[in-house]
Amino acid sequence: MSTHSQPLTVAVVGATGVVGRTMIQVLAERQFPVGELRLLASGRSAGSTVSAAGRTMTVEEATPEAFAGIDIALFSAGTDVSRQLAPEAAARGCTVVDNSNAWRMEPHVPLIVSQVNPGDGEWHEGIIANPNCSTMQLVPVLMAIRDTVGIDRVVVDTYQSVSGTGAEALAELESQIRAHVAGEPKVANVYPHPIAFNVLPEIDVFLDNGYTREEWKVVTENRKILGLPDLRISCTAVRIPVFVSHSEAVHVETRDAITPERARRLFAAVPGVVVQDDPAEHDYPLATEAAGHDEIYVGRVRSDVSIGDDRGLAFWVVSDNLRKGAATNAVEIAETLRDRDWIRPASARGTRPYQALGVAEATA
Ligand SMILES: NC(=O)c1ccc[n+]([C@@H]2O[C@H](COP(=O)([O-])OP(=O)(O)OC[C@H]3O[C@@H](n4cnc5c(N)ncnc54)[C@H](OP(=O)(O)O)[C@@H]3O)[C@@H](O)[C@H]2O)c1
Repeated sequence: MSTHSQPLTVAVVGATGVVGRTMIQVLAERQFPVGELRLLASGRSAGSTVSAAGRTMTVEEATPEAFAGIDIALFSAGTDVSRQLAPEAAARGCTVVDNSNAWRMEPHVPLIVSQVNPGDGEWHEGIIANPNCSTMQLVPVLMAIRDTVGIDRVVVDTYQSVSGTGAEALAELESQIRAHVAGEPKVANVYPHPIAFNVLPEIDVFLDNGYTREEWKVVTENRKILGLPDLRISCTAVRIPVFVSHSEAVHVETRDAITPERARRLFAAVPGVVVQDDPAEHDYPLATEAAGHDEIYVGRVRSDVSIGDDRGLAFWVVSDNLRKGAATNAVEIAETLRDRDWIRPASARGTRPYQALGVAEATA
């Protein structure tokens, strides 16, 4: 059955969250051909309304049965919900674009950044994964280096906004700022320490190897999407008191020599990447300016003097984590699936027993 020409029944799972609301907004902005839009969240929100993209819509509880008749579902309700409900949705013929960590590293699940590997959508078996937001803004830039002078090693340190944690973290930063101004104690519930006026080198849980899970996502997801399973890459992920947009300081050791000028040209040629790099005018990517936009901004491009023979690059990458880092890329994947006729009912793609796989390890 071709899906190319007809409006689709679309579900947003986690529709009351910051990413879910952004998904609704982006679907409308990009005029995705939605015939019917179903908003799903936990039982706590069933019957409540969400206002987005100029409409007010009622939320239903996300249950396995709720996915009957849905063509495509954009999941953004956390790893546990995705692990439980995405296979249920897929088994009912729904194609899932999942924004959580549940399925990204499963070999049979495509992990897609829209301008890097959209073709991987062809081999989906019901679930397609959207990368972590820190990975998302880095891969298109690294792709430009991979395809020209080659990559030997990458070191990335992230400066991540609180919206990456969700709605509660946005409220916590706001309340801690107010408490500070009022001279009151800053109460921390979401993070282990106050985030206001602070810098926390801890995102997600610590793993046995000393990295955090967020850092390890950057390592493993970049390798998978770039098709470089042995890529030498390391990350330190840091939470900072910014509301929206993640920033990253990136150091790349290249295989062949490259000048900053050539790197800027290569970056600018990647769809969705904007080079903003005029230090003399204090012009470089900023979190506040990237917020609300879909582009990935790159600046401060220079030779890394710690690496000889012009084989080192250092640069700064900023993007809105709720848009390109989550919602926009998910909608772009949905557009590709629709345009290329890859939204297939279960009968046309076979059914994989996702529940039987060792997905519990996917969170590590
Ligand atoms: N924020 C980002 O920048 C970002 C980027 C990439 C990926 N992600 C991923 O996106 C997901 C959501 O993030 P967020 O920032 O939007 O979080 P959030 O603001 O805390 O929203 C969480 C959403 O999940 C829903 N939910 C919770 N438990 C549920 C359940 N048992 N059944 C159905 N729905 C349930 C919530 O519904 P209720 O209101 O009913 O509780 C809410 O809609 C996470 O997996 C996160 O890792 C986030």
